[in-house]
Amino acid sequence: MTKLFQAIQQAASLLAEGKIVAIPTETVYGLGGCARTPAAIQKIYEIKDRPATNPLIIHLSNMAAIEAWAVDIPEVAWKLAERFWPGPLTLVLKRRPEVLESVTAGQPTVALRVPNHPVTLALLKTFGEGIAAPSANRHGRISPTTAEHVREELGSKVGYILDGGPCQVGIESTIVYVVDSEIHLLRQGSITQQAIEACLECRLPAAPHHASSLKIGTLEIEVPGQSLSHYAPQRPLFLYGYQTLLEKIQQSLAENRPVAVLSFAPLPDFLRAGQSHEMIHWIQANTRAEIYARELYAHLRSLDALNPNAIFVETPPFNSEWLALQDRLYRASQKG
Ligand code: TXA
Ligand code: MG
Repeated sequence: MTKLFQAIQQAASLLAEGKIVAIPTETVYGLGGCARTPAAIQKIYEIKDRPATNPLIIHLSNMAAIEAWAVDIPEVAWKLAERFWPGPLTLVLKRRPEVLESVTAGQPTVALRVPNHPVTLALLKTFGEGIAAPSANRHGRISPTTAEHVREELGSKVGYILDGGPCQVGIESTIVYVVDSEIHLLRQGSITQQAIEACLECRLPAAPHHASSLKIGTLEIEVPGQSLSHYAPQRPLFLYGYQTLLEKIQQSLAENRPVAVLSFAPLPDFLRAGQSHEMIHWIQANTRAEIYARELYAHLRSLDALNPNAIFVETPPFNSEWLALQDRLYRASQKG
């Protein structure tokens, strides 16, 4: 038996006992528990210190399994599932009545996704049930994209971490609400609004921008990651265009305050001079959105770990493939 096979077996046994296991996905690591076991769900909320009003995503091994959790599944939902699963897409569908209230936080809907990670897909098959899993960070903090990050975030609170290597997507899944004839993008992700529109051959309403809830008819639904100050490092984070970024750095240096920077440019020569480079920790970000996303949370963690006065991030471009990153950085920049 290989080590990985053993690890998957062990994780499945722990889940069957109602225990909590951190699981790798292609987006970020999740804090998983059996979606049918109330005690496991309660533990997830406790470990994360997450408000009970914030529902969880249930992870499934295959598309057909959604019928065990959702009813009145629209054709559109099957189309999206067919096109994007396994992958970084979560569908919010009308829930079956027997789905635990604690998983859905009392909402009439349930969030489902088939993740694209070989280790977790193998775990889901072995376990044979849905795994409810929020991102494996403390509430409001940066999602973990490696097993090591999970350890740093939650330490001994999580008994078992299934290590599946670094996450390839790096930011949380795109969430789409599909109930009756309503289709709404609730959270931006690496699957863009355009990609969803192309798949469905229709236009979606503009995604809620920095809003905390969405009104659909008489129904008011919560928008994920809504609490401002979400995905946030410990140190204050500021988003600036490049010129302002340079000015703010100089201002900080003049006041003897160390700064951490994430910029698309290399450290400029004039900032290498004298003592100033000792006061600056500069990371040059990748200019491709896909790679930027994969590396973003690890970069923010390493900048944060230096305990600078502030983290300055250069604003990414405003086009569709950067929208999800704009959203995460904007929320990271908001104070709690
Ligand atoms: O990529 C991801 O989605 C990761 C990995 C682990 O799968 N999970 C993740 O979970 O980001 P979490 O709990 O950190 O974010 C899920 C969001 C929450 O903000 C929650 O409000 C929203 O999904 N959500 C869950 N169920 C919902 C529902 N029934 N209606 C609306 N939003 C829902
Ligand atoms: Mg989260």
